[in-house]
Amino acid sequence: MIEIQTLKYGKLIVFLLLCFCAGVWGRGPEDLEENPAVQRFRTYLRIRTVQPEPDYLSAINFLLGQAKEIGLSTRTFEFVPKKPILLTTWKGSSKEKLQSVILNSHMDVVPVEEEKWKYPPFDAEMDEDGNIFARGSQDMKVVGIMYLEAIRILKSKGWVPVRDVHVLWVPDEEVGGDDGWGKFSVSKEFEELNASIVLDEGSISSSGDKYIAINGEKNMWWLVITAKGETGHGSIYFENSAAENMFKSIASINAFRDSQMALVRAGEKSSEEVVSVNSVFLKSGLPTSDGFTMNIQPSVVEAGFDVRIPPSKEMAALMKKRVVEEWAPKNRNMSFYFTSQSETRDGEVPLTTADDSNPWWFLLRTAVSKFNATLTPRITGGATDSSFVRMHGVDAFGITAIQNVPSLLHNHNEYMNGYEFLKGINVVVEIIDRFGSFSGSRQSYQIQRSSM
Ligand SMILES: *[C@@H]1O[C@H](CO)[C@@H](O)[C@H](O)[C@H]1NC(C)=O
Ligand SMILES: *[C@@H]1O[C@H](CO)[C@@H](O)[C@H](O)[C@H]1NC(C)=O
Ligand SMILES: *[C@@H]1O[C@H](CO)[C@@H](O)[C@H](O)[C@H]1NC(C)=O
Ligand SMILES: [Zn+2]
Repeated sequence: MIEIQTLKYGKLIVFLLLCFCAGVWGRGPEDLEENPAVQRFRTYLRIRTVQPEPDYLSAINFLLGQAKEIGLSTRTFEFVPKKPILLTTWKGSSKEKLQSVILNSHMDVVPVEEEKWKYPPFDAEMDEDGNIFARGSQDMKVVGIMYLEAIRILKSKGWVPVRDVHVLWVPDEEVGGDDGWGKFSVSKEFEELNASIVLDEGSISSSGDKYIAINGEKNMWWLVITAKGETGHGSIYFENSAAENMFKSIASINAFRDSQMALVRAGEKSSEEVVSVNSVFLKSGLPTSDGFTMNIQPSVVEAGFDVRIPPSKEMAALMKKRVVEEWAPKNRNMSFYFTSQSETRDGEVPLTTADDSNPWWFLLRTAVSKFNATLTPRITGGATDSSFVRMHGVDAFGITAIQNVPSLLHNHNEYMNGYEFLKGINVVVEIIDRFGSFSGSRQSYQIQRSSM
């Protein structure tokens, strides 16, 4: 009897201990738990705007509430059913018509493999270090909430921008943006905003003394090459079978790929400065019910590659030559096509000028320098909504004002540190303050500088 009793109490103690751990130690630091900005961030993270069926309605309702609380005017657009865009606006004080600032963020997040996560990905749980675990905590709900929190702070100080500052909430960036910025960027609504600068998502900085501003993207080619050749019995040697022709190309592509990787490994170039080529599919063979016919050599072999080229006309031309002459030469019975390619202006992927000749760069750089940090321009391999913006001749910088957190975009256990989030809000306050205080124009600023 006694033994059983002890066992029972033992279990009870373990049970109580578990409750205690979960209730107290499993939670974040008290100052963060009670911080209203952190609370609002976590509320937004709990809204399941996860592809492929994002709950945009709940997100928009939450954001409308935020905008009302802060005192921003709102408009919603729906260019495609169930893909709402929310525009929240802080009216500028200038009587003169000045071009506007757009602070952009996408509401959707990428899917999760829930079983690989330490905490449920839409619970926004915080650990004892103040790390908040949730899909979207880096990409890019943190950026959107930082805009709003920064505006709250500026409003509470009675500060007003001279030009309109818009905070824009868009759908579907993670699935290419065609139904989001794709539609918006060609609308009269966008034209009427007369934007001069768009801020968008960027990269987290691993160090405490710098921030990164993305000013352009690599030229993306989704390349498919096709090899054709004689078909026949699997036992016969043909000259130039389709597979043989393809393997020659693959050898050439691999050699090029190795050369680019070697430059990065040797520290001679950054990954932004080299061409990336990665195999995404190989397709051939005659299928049977449970595999492939083993005694026929296929007449067609196809291979797909994701190619990203640093955004210069010269590099694109060089790569095109390489594809035509080495990767898919006609005289080897090969051909190629693109399933998708970055849009270009005059053959180039547009970049935003990242030096002091551009007032927006200057203002961004001096804003972060107040925090003793430098600003580094960067070209990214991935595509973001900023590409739509730059195609319309409007400047765009991607900046996620967060430091000292490992980059976990699209990864398991994506998290944001609460303290770094609060620090970032102050940086965004400084950025909006400088952008909103600047009453010149991009053009007049250049004239002023060149006459100096
Ligand atoms: C945009 O603003 C500039 C500067 O105020 C002005 O010259 C231009 O006409 C405006 N464009 C539109 C479409 O409103
Ligand atoms: C190209 O295809 C033709 C017709 O099948 C074939 O005769 C020729 O040998 C092939 N050439 C190469 C280089 O594969
Ligand atoms: C930046 O550095 C200066 C000089 O070292 C220091 O006085 C200041 O407190 C620093 N500012 C921030 C925000 O860290
Ligand atoms: Zn993103």
